[in-house]
Amino acid sequence: MKNRREDFFEVVAFILNHPEFQRRKTFKHHGEETVYDHSLKVAYYSYVLARLLHVDAETTAIAGLLHDFYTTPWMDDPVKHKRIRDLHGFAHPKIAYENTKKYFPQVVDPKVRDVIVKHMFPLTILPPIYIEGWIVTFVDKYVSLTVFKDVKNLPKYVGIKGKRKEK
Ligand SMILES: [Fe+2]
Ligand SMILES: [Fe+2]
Repeated sequence: MKNRREDFFEVVAFILNHPEFQRRKTFKHHGEETVYDHSLKVAYYSYVLARLLHVDAETTAIAGLLHDFYTTPWMDDPVKHKRIRDLHGFAHPKIAYENTKKYFPQVVDPKVRDVIVKHMFPLTILPPIYIEGWIVTFVDKYVSLTVFKDVKNLPKYVGIKGKRKEK
């Protein structure tokens, strides 16, 4: 019998092995952690929690893996955004969903969309509709905050501080 970890990798292997997703190994996300590692952690813990709660674990794993599938490593983004809705913390969930539609159209459904687009709740104002969305938004914050370990670094989670200084 397969164990939980093998089940998880079977569900998400097609995403992990995709060259576009592999590129996230080069995107720094929080501190030294890459988007790839962060997304994998969020997806796996969310999957485990979803199984414990007897909800849709496969969708939770897939949407969890794609929740930060944005295009530009935000710490390298040279653009100074004037409008608050263009700041990384507000803009990246929609970009992640657009990339999901582009690269993995076979997984797109209303639940996957809602989980990805609302994962930054309460910044999104509207809360997630599905329990799977609550799981991903909770695990994302838990994982991110364990990386920061210090509340002073919270603005980095939102994407408003901590960009690399340009040389
Ligand atoms: Fe995010
Ligand atoms: Fe995240």
